Amino acid sequence: MKHEICKIADIPETGSLIAPFFGREVHVFRSGGRIRAVANTCMHFGGPLDCKEGKFVCQWHGASFAMANGERLDGPAPASSRLMFLSTRVEGDALNYVWGE
Ligand code: FES
Repeated sequence: MKHEICKIADIPETGSLIAPFFGREVHVFRSGGRIRAVANTCMHFGGPLDCKEGKFVCQWHGASFAMANGERLDGPAPASSRLMFLSTRVEGDALNYVWGE
């Protein structure tokens, strides 16, 4: 399946764009020359994440996660937890979610 997440032109150079995704949200951002999309869901109790100071920080209890790989950096989320990245592909002017292709 394939589903458009957002237009490439809408993704900021720093920080992230929050895009709707099947009733949920994803953060879309640029990292090391790549465009990444990660679920806006903390690995503690599922709280929403802010993108600030180069990391994702949970609004509920303050867990933080690395933008480069989603690894938990600090806070109450399990030490070995990692944010959920989506499988994506750039096609034309859009970033698409792709699955099973
Ligand atoms: S739900 Fe994110 S730190 Fe608790």
